[in-house]
Amino acid sequence: MTSPQSPSGADSGRPVPGGPDVDAADQIAEAAADPEATAIVDPADIDPALADPEAVAEAVAPQREIVTAEGEALLEVSGLTVEFGGLAALDDVSFEIRRGEILGLIGPNGAGKTTCFNAITGVYTPTRGTVTFDGSPLGKIKQHKITRRGIARTFQNVRLWGEMTALENVCVGTDARHQTSVFGAIARTPRHYREERDAVDRGMALLEFVGIGPRAAEKASNLPYGDQRRLEIARALATEPKLLCLDEPAAGFNPSEKTALMGLIQKIRDDGYTVLLIEHDMRLVMGVTDRIVVLEFGRKIAEGSPRDVRDNPAVVAAYLGVPDDQIA
Ligand SMILES: Nc1ncnc2c1ncn2[C@@H]1O[C@H](COP(=O)(O)OP(=O)(O)O)[C@@H](O)[C@H]1O
Ligand SMILES: [Mg+2]
Repeated sequence: MTSPQSPSGADSGRPVPGGPDVDAADQIAEAAADPEATAIVDPADIDPALADPEAVAEAVAPQREIVTAEGEALLEVSGLTVEFGGLAALDDVSFEIRRGEILGLIGPNGAGKTTCFNAITGVYTPTRGTVTFDGSPLGKIKQHKITRRGIARTFQNVRLWGEMTALENVCVGTDARHQTSVFGAIARTPRHYREERDAVDRGMALLEFVGIGPRAAEKASNLPYGDQRRLEIARALATEPKLLCLDEPAAGFNPSEKTALMGLIQKIRDDGYTVLLIEHDMRLVMGVTDRIVVLEFGRKIAEGSPRDVRDNPAVVAAYLGVPDDQIA
């Protein structure tokens, strides 16, 4: 379900301003406002380049030098402990995420996966332990600052601005990277217009990249559930994160939707992003991840390649008693 609240503290409900140069935004706004129209748009009509998957991938790729050094840690979690009323939801957990990889964080329900995410992304302050990102400690910095540092996430339950169009939802993500001051936005300086136009172009490329370009003008709350999940990913990518954290992105999907989503996650990594993927369905992550960390009752019980983890007796035991379709 959608919720109108702002997950990252960004301003809510603000439409994408249509400046004189924002042609694509005008087209989208027109499609969204026309009660007769289906709100389906043809992305190639808006920008012919959107018909070329390679051009789309290039537009979506992070606009920075990609440092992909195998073995080099982008994020290091050390001795991380999160207690709620004396109970440890996460107990002395350490692992690292290497640049350019897809790391799977798996474990049965209640294992502490979301808590770990929340501690990394500033939602919870760890009781003990440290998180080091891109060479410096995250400490007690707040969520929106963590976004600026380069970590973006999606939520286990979809959180979108339901009354805004798909494109507007994504443009809110690009906003996080804007340089224009509030004054620049109010005074509508040329830089402001340029940034808005770039945001719309990039927003359309992101929607196309995740497979929902034709839905750009649709209200987020009207999108089918699977498209809402894809939109959330597009919005997270809009901030050009160094690390993209996905919390059970395939929850509620049927098997073929799950397979398609795993394909998208690989495409995202191939485009230059590093991904932390939470999933409790072990089989699902087997074919996608480079390495896997397994949690059970808040503790790390295994770490290694998908094959090592699958054959690990402690992991097999942790997954006993859950339905067969969740066992590799
Ligand atoms: N805000 C909270 N307050 C109290 N207990 C919590 C809170 N968040 C999570 N927990 C507890 O921490 C444990 C791990 O939860 P969670 O991280 O959501 O697991 P997972 O995402 O692996 O399913 C569970 O026992 C859960 O009840
Ligand atoms: Mg969870």
